[in-house]
Amino acid sequence: MKVIVAPNYEEMSKIAAKEIAKLLYVKPNAVLGLATGSTPEGVYRELIELNKAERVDFSKATSFNLDEYKGLKGDHPQSYRYFMNSKLFNHVNIDKNKTHVPSGVAENIEKECKEYDESIEKAGGIDLQLLGIGTNGHIGFNEPSDFLNLNTHETDLTEDTIKANSRFFDSIDEVPTRAITMGLGSIMKADKIILLASGEKKADIIAKLVEDKISTRVPASMLQVHQNVLVIVDNAAASLLKNSSNNEIEYVK
Ligand code: GLP
Repeated sequence: MKVIVAPNYEEMSKIAAKEIAKLLYVKPNAVLGLATGSTPEGVYRELIELNKAERVDFSKATSFNLDEYKGLKGDHPQSYRYFMNSKLFNHVNIDKNKTHVPSGVAENIEKECKEYDESIEKAGGIDLQLLGIGTNGHIGFNEPSDFLNLNTHETDLTEDTIKANSRFFDSIDEVPTRAITMGLGSIMKADKIILLASGEKKADIIAKLVEDKISTRVPASMLQVHQNVLVIVDNAAASLLKNSSNNEIEYVK
């Protein structure tokens, strides 16, 4: 696991956006795995600017998002489809038909999940997967548990996650309690993974992710066995990392 510590959120976002731009330059038809949450918003803003300046081209790219709330239609302002459209897709030259977000309202969820994994395979697999991390160590909506799922599946959200995500809803009662998420297997199959974290509230989980033993109680810790993971954090999220770690840590000024 390589860790880059950026001085602040803006720099962290720029470094990640550059990685995506670099990939699209060498492989214009790359398959991107995308994430929601507050953390990647800066990356998307940066990509929009780069796209306007014609320094990144999405015209041949395909994307697959990690997850979606169960029960929310794509036009619901809190759905992840809506988030992706408004924060990125509507502002860059990506073909919307090639952007994928699991449906939270599919009649047959099991079938939807199976077909989602099949579409990823058919597209050639994910070249670069962008991830945020929950304070409880979840990635996508793979929540801490005794057992983790390989494939895209329907899942319960933990109380921590419902509470954390209630900031986007009018009241906590409106937060869906279930979601569809890519599984750990779908995520780990990506050629390259970039995990982002910003702020002091992520410091504890970043230290666990990078330095603790692998545990299903910290789903993100599974990334330790992936060959090509880049963790990009700001100073605050890196504040509990010990220098004694076995990982390569680069501090960017
Ligand atoms: C959500 C998403 C995750 C995201 C996480 C952290 O629940 N399902 O993909 O990484 O929360 O969000 P934030 O970046 O807002 O802290």
